[in-house]
Formats: sequence, structure tokens, C-alpha cells
Amino acid sequence: MTKQETYQSILPQIEALVTGETDMIAKMANVVAVLHEAFGFWWTGFYRVEGQQLVLGPFQGPIACTRIPFGRGVCGTAWQRAETVIVPNVHEFAGHIACSSASNSEIVVPILRDGQVIAVLDIDSKDFNTFDETDRLYLEQIAQLIL
Ligand code: SME
Repeated sequence: MTKQETYQSILPQIEALVTGETDMIAKMANVVAVLHEAFGFWWTGFYRVEGQQLVLGPFQGPIACTRIPFGRGVCGTAWQRAETVIVPNVHEFAGHIACSSASNSEIVVPILRDGQVIAVLDIDSKDFNTFDETDRLYLEQIAQLIL
């Protein structure tokens, strides 16, 4: 199955899982579970904006840093720019926060409500160059479904 076919197959499942649920944390938890299972990523999770920091939310994978300041790391950068950041090689990203030394590439997708970033979806891969425009396209749709 291509990456696009995998996203196409999980989209209806995710839409069904979030429909009728109002609790954002519960929706985040199921969204990470579906993504993590479908793709076998190294780490899949959400961080929520709390004041001037991102705070760890539902995730699957190894333990992670609990708080990330605005503008720091890939997550804080995606929050600051209010746009998706794709990092083909995290070791070349200035300020990357290494929660796990096994991570080699990463994508961070911000979730916007009324023009404000309220959370980010962060996915880490053990491989280099894992994420591309197909991931951006689908993950931007999927991430917004937690609202
Ligand atoms: N690498 C991220 C930190 C979060 S962990 O990858 C789970 C960053 O640089 O923001």
C-alpha cells in the first residue's frame, strides 16, 4: 500500500472516531493510536499550548519531554510559525530537542483554532527523509479533526 492509500484508508476511521466526541484529549488519544498503528512510526503524539509552553499530551511511543518553550525545537518552531515543519534530518535542525536519540526525521503540524495555535501533532521516524508533502496534506486534515 502506498502512503497515500494508507492515509485514505484511515481517514474515514478517524472521522468516525472523533464524530460525536467533544473531549479533545480523548480525540487526540485515538488519533495518535490510529496513526501510530497504521504507519509504525517511532513516536506519535500531541503537545497542547499552555501559556508560553507546549505540554505533552496523548502519545504513543517512548517517554518524551513534557514541556517545550515557544520557539524551541521543531515543535516550538511549528508553533511560532503557525505552519507545518518537515525535518528530513533532525541532526541538522538547529535547536532540535532530542527526546530520543533514535529519531532521525520529524514532522510537526500545528492545530489552529480562530487563527491561534492551540496544539501540535508531532511525529518522529527512525528513518531519515520519512515525511513529505503527502504527509503534510493528510496530517494537516487529520490534526484539525481533534477540534
Ligand atoms: N523533537 C521535538 C521534541 C519532541 S519529541 O520528538 C517527542 C522537537 O524538537 O521539538
